[in-house]
Amino acid sequence: MEKREELYRGKAKSVYKTDDADRLILLFRNDTSAFDGKRIEQLDRKGMVNNKFNAFIMQKLEAAGIPTQFDKLLADNEVLVKKLDMIPVECVVRNYAAGSLVKRLGVEEGLKLNPYTFELFLKDDAKGDPFINESHVVAFGWGTAEQLARMKELSLKVNDVLSKLFDDAGLLLVDFKLEFGVFSDGSIVLGDEFSPDGCRLWDKDTKKKMDKDRFRQGLGDVIEAYEEVAHRLGVPL
Ligand SMILES: Nc1ncnc2c1ncn2[C@@H]1O[C@H](COP(=O)(O)OP(=O)(O)OP(=O)(O)O)[C@@H](O)[C@H]1O
Ligand SMILES: [Mg+2]
Repeated sequence: MEKREELYRGKAKSVYKTDDADRLILLFRNDTSAFDGKRIEQLDRKGMVNNKFNAFIMQKLEAAGIPTQFDKLLADNEVLVKKLDMIPVECVVRNYAAGSLVKRLGVEEGLKLNPYTFELFLKDDAKGDPFINESHVVAFGWGTAEQLARMKELSLKVNDVLSKLFDDAGLLLVDFKLEFGVFSDGSIVLGDEFSPDGCRLWDKDTKKKMDKDRFRQGLGDVIEAYEEVAHRLGVPL
């Protein structure tokens, strides 16, 4: 597998072409951003931890029948993935109230949501990733009704699989964000990453935050918390 030119440089990852038209390389950098990229810092080991964490989770999801981009780990900071035509919509599943939901609705952080909620946000930093609904996705052509239905079905399946996985490790999966894309065969595939950058994880007993909220809220020991989560799950670092 040959690494070719950089296609795109995001806030946390760089994307490279390869000699295979159906494969890309994702390089996980140490850059850590918050507030739609308004704050960016370098955190030692973050690229490596998130790359390995993501590979572990994607393989668990694949084994549970969820189609993912994961092909193989190439290096500490690099993974080979299926090249997807990304749908510019973030799918968010929440099991407990936190973050923007608390701000928007004024509910108490940690409130159990029964059942879970499913939300959509447009991936557009300049507009602050606005909250959208299913009819917007179809009306503006970001995805078809069928693609959207599949994204929702897969998001809820991910919630089932990962809520159990984290629960067994003494962690509450509070909420998470997924990005999907369309593969060359037309199927909807889970892309981007699943790591503590894009989900909320609390210790079940102490409710200690073990995710990117440590960075957003200046709580310190950000990567130490990510490593603790990885250790509890058995992710080889
Ligand atoms: N399998 C894939 N195929 C194609 N593109 C992908 C794949 N997985 C992720 N991407 C895209 O690669 C980029 C990853 O970089 P990163 O997550 O750092 O970007 P970002 O700053 O969050 O995103 P953006 O700048 O697009 O808002 C994102 O634009 C993401 O949508
Ligand atoms: Mg991203």
